[in-house]
Amino acid sequence: MVGTLRAELDAALRNRYGAERLDDLDAFAAADAVVAVTSGVCGVRAEHLDRLPGLGAIVNFGVGYDSTDVAEAARRGVAVSNTPDVLTDCVADTAVGLVIDVMRRLSAADRFVRRGEWEHGVPALARRVTGARVGILGLGRIGLAIAHRLAAFDATISYHNRRERDDVDYAYAGSVLDLARDCDVLVVAAAGGPQSQRLVDAEVLDALGPSGFLVNVARGTVVDEPAMVAALEDGRIAGAGLDVFADEPRVSAALLDRDDVVLLPHLGSATVETRAAMTELVLTNVERFLSDGTLVTPV
Ligand code: DGY
Repeated sequence: MVGTLRAELDAALRNRYGAERLDDLDAFAAADAVVAVTSGVCGVRAEHLDRLPGLGAIVNFGVGYDSTDVAEAARRGVAVSNTPDVLTDCVADTAVGLVIDVMRRLSAADRFVRRGEWEHGVPALARRVTGARVGILGLGRIGLAIAHRLAAFDATISYHNRRERDDVDYAYAGSVLDLARDCDVLVVAAAGGPQSQRLVDAEVLDALGPSGFLVNVARGTVVDEPAMVAALEDGRIAGAGLDVFADEPRVSAALLDRDDVVLLPHLGSATVETRAAMTELVLTNVERFLSDGTLVTPV
């Protein structure tokens, strides 16, 4: 039984993150389910809990669990777990990749070559990454791993969290606005959910300014997406590198033809190694819950 469960979950999880939305519970759930395996895009909310009376645990495939109503789950005695740590490095790698790509216009240059335009000219100049001032919104595990990597580029790091950390030497900005004002690239690594909804709004984007870049590897909801599109269209920010979107897997049509944006399909954790580790942690949580009612990595 456990072997079958392992094989089925393994096949279902590895390459599916973000591809599906939970619009119709009947499509995936059985009313007598004891454990629900979810993702950051496809979670369990109060209306689903109403229809899952036997549910004991929600095991999230991913570190971000903002798609699930954790408070409501707790109120009903349903435990929730996630997959912390195992994806930190890959998501941080993705963030650094986006910083380099959008600032150096690598994807734009790739398209330039493919379109055969090199024979007629050269692409627009990019911006230097080495020595850039990087503002990190959300200096948690992933934010810190991003900062460590960017140290190799002599970046000046500042950050904003709800509270200042006493274990780092990076400059603390008291608000998102202050953070944006003093950086060349604003990297969003904050957890999703109501408390971070649209923290990066039109005012913050204006503070980032016409030479500033936005990179988001956290949640699309942290950025006011229409305001970001408007800022790009008006040249009020220089570009955006995005792994996440407000309404995944849908991407605003206005972004698709722009050379100043890099668009990724939420692949921060999508490597063979990391997805295997995440899958293993999900399976371990499911098995532990089925055997003794506890979770290995509760949130
Ligand atoms: C997560 O696990 O929440 C991330 O979004 C994966 O990229």
